[in-house]
Amino acid sequence: MNLVFLGPPGAGKGTIAAIAKEKLGVPHISTGDLFRAAIKNETELGKQVKSILASGELVPDSVTVEMVRERFLDKDTKDGFILDGFPRTISQADSLADMKQIDHVVNFLLDREEIVKRLSGRRMCKSTGKIYHVLYNPPKVEGIDDETGEPLIQRDDDKEDAILNRLEVYDRQTAPLISYYKEKGMLRDIDAKGSPEAVLAQMLAAIGA
Ligand code: AP5
Repeated sequence: MNLVFLGPPGAGKGTIAAIAKEKLGVPHISTGDLFRAAIKNETELGKQVKSILASGELVPDSVTVEMVRERFLDKDTKDGFILDGFPRTISQADSLADMKQIDHVVNFLLDREEIVKRLSGRRMCKSTGKIYHVLYNPPKVEGIDDETGEPLIQRDDDKEDAILNRLEVYDRQTAPLISYYKEKGMLRDIDAKGSPEAVLAQMLAAIGA
């Protein structure tokens, strides 16, 4: 099944995708994770996008679409995938339609107050990308990854100024995708406020899995 997870920053797309990929047996493709890996590995792409990610602006469409096109060459995407954070503009959605047929677009709905709480409390393991939350999903030992023992970090774009900018960027450039996909009959709204288990159950019901 070919899925797109759409929704504002911090709505829980990555958290649910990380669980759903096991359940559905498809890879989780997060464009944010791909950019962060490029930054960590200091590749040309990483150098090009580092300051863009830190500010919360979007990477240019041409660069992002090319990265996704290359990812689709990997065999593991043949029988399905979860796209998390892509597309984020109408132009990216048009490019995606030329590359793949999408079965469902799952739209994560969450109020602003909760989004800010989730983003400001998020911590992650830099090497594995595992996501925690200081209150909602804390590690066993404060500030330390359960599996690797490495110190957890706060993403640069989870600082207050960048959060506000990301929400503005979402409203301006990504929210128009809601009507884009609604008009095509592909949109499946889910309430992202419950526990991860409850959100996962809603998501599976919404896609008929
Ligand atoms: P990206 O990494 O995609 O960031 P995002 O869309 O802003 O999404 P987030 O990762 O912030 O949130 P999420 O919805 O995955 O929430 P999460 O599960 O982590 O993109 C980063 C940047 O890369 C962009 O700003 C841009 O610069 C660039 N980029 C990426 N894609 C691009 C594109 N297509 N075009 C151009 N540029 C692009 O959860 C958040 C927190 O809440 C966690 O702490 C988690 O533990 C907690 N939580 C999650 N679910 C629950 C729950 N149900 N209950 C309680 N707590 C929960």
